[in-house]
Amino acid sequence: MEFKAIVDVKAHDATDCAIVGTYENGDLGVAARHIDAQTAGAIEKLHANGDFSGKVGDTLLLPMPAGTAASRVLLVGLGSRTGFGRKQYRKALQSAATALGKTGAVDAIIYLPLEEVGDLDILYRARMVAELFCVQAYKVPDLKTGTKPKTPKLKTVSVATDNARSSKAAADGLAIGEAIGSGIAFARDLGNLPPNVCTPTYLGNSALQLAKEWPSIKAKALDAAAIKALKMGAFLAVTQGSDQPPRLIVCEYRGTRKNVAPICLVGKGITFDSGGISLKDPPAMDEMKFDMSGAGTVLGVLRAVAELKLPINLVVIVAACENMPSGGAIKPADIVTTMSGQTVEILNTDAEGRLVLCDAITYSRRFKPAAVIDVATLTGACIIALGNHFSGLMSNDESLAGELSAAGARADDRAWALPIGEEYVDQLKSNFADIANVGGREGGACTAASFLSKFAKDLSWAHLDIAGTAWLGGSQKGSTGRPVPLLVDFLVKRAGSK
Ligand code: BES
Ligand code: MN
Ligand code: ZN
Repeated sequence: MEFKAIVDVKAHDATDCAIVGTYENGDLGVAARHIDAQTAGAIEKLHANGDFSGKVGDTLLLPMPAGTAASRVLLVGLGSRTGFGRKQYRKALQSAATALGKTGAVDAIIYLPLEEVGDLDILYRARMVAELFCVQAYKVPDLKTGTKPKTPKLKTVSVATDNARSSKAAADGLAIGEAIGSGIAFARDLGNLPPNVCTPTYLGNSALQLAKEWPSIKAKALDAAAIKALKMGAFLAVTQGSDQPPRLIVCEYRGTRKNVAPICLVGKGITFDSGGISLKDPPAMDEMKFDMSGAGTVLGVLRAVAELKLPINLVVIVAACENMPSGGAIKPADIVTTMSGQTVEILNTDAEGRLVLCDAITYSRRFKPAAVIDVATLTGACIIALGNHFSGLMSNDESLAGELSAAGARADDRAWALPIGEEYVDQLKSNFADIANVGGREGGACTAASFLSKFAKDLSWAHLDIAGTAWLGGSQKGSTGRPVPLLVDFLVKRAGSK
């Protein structure tokens, strides 16, 4: 799908489909008023006779309206004018994208960004169009046999603006939204693939492939011998029960001068988490194929950053392996030496995420990063705390945490701050090693993050626990691509201010 910004206030331009908004009670949006005039009051009539109420997200397709330059008009309800904000705007866009996808239109002009949406500028309004239309077009990579649905016809979506300056800003927004959309799709594909396909090797190859596509990216996928040479004792412990070889994936994106300190994103890439010897219960164990969602996210963000050519330096590190039970697997009470030199008593083999992450965070030090952000489906406790709405956000740097939480709000991919500290580290006391890998049920998301803070130490570091947000269960089972929008927003903002 291609996105364009155009200047067309009066809905004059020819198109397969003009998408126009109307508020409740016959209160027409900017473009709807013009279409109404072109069609001798057809839209007003639809309101008057009760055929279209204008509730948020309602849509109605008008085929071949006489008098317009459009072969179709898609009416989209915006709700009440006074209550029209970010949330209503997103809902309207989602319904518009869905309704448009059901038509045979090859191109469309969307006039919704001409409306006022709270205090959101045109850049943001256009960005949301591209992001949500990309998300709507996403198809799960399924292995169903039988006839596939036809590939969608829609090729071009143009955003109408009222002047050249707005059009320029809209084009910038569309580029960001499109990059976020591609990053989300990239992350979702990796998450949705079955774990016998999306192995650590597959993740490594995906990163190498990204580097082939984007000259600004360099990538390597280190094997077990190289990981051993780095003395990553905790990472190696997790992989030792699996027949699949591990990968330490390291990607470097150069978008500015070499001496500018990079942002480092670290992803948890457990391609299947059985729990190991501390085996999980069978219900929903299949969903542990999504335990590499942190890896999918950081690779998706890398792709988006390359596409946008952001003037920053970015390092992406993924610790990829399986967590399996076997005769060679780690056992509760095993003690390992991490890359940092600290020893860890593994009391529960199902708390494997923090084991692979602590070594990946230690590894990030060699890049002298400006900030390190790890992204991980780390704890069931985070889902209990925040549900599926917010990612957990823990940090040793208040200003970094503030930036991330603001980015989440702007991107509609929110994160909520949770505490870390010595109180939680105390729960991780071990009689036999420097630290244990679990600290009891209470505050499980906080003890996990506090464990990681012992390795982040003086780094400016934040942790996103995405256990509740990275995928949906039930009938909608599938990867969401979160928190790609949050992180891309954060990096776009950093790129602008540095
Ligand atoms: N990958 C899981 C966390 C998880 C569980 C995410 C369910 C999403 C849904 C992680 O490796 C894990 O097993 N964590 C344990 C930690 C516990 C043993 C301290 C958990 O949350 O139960
Ligand atoms: Mn686990
Ligand atoms: Zn896990």
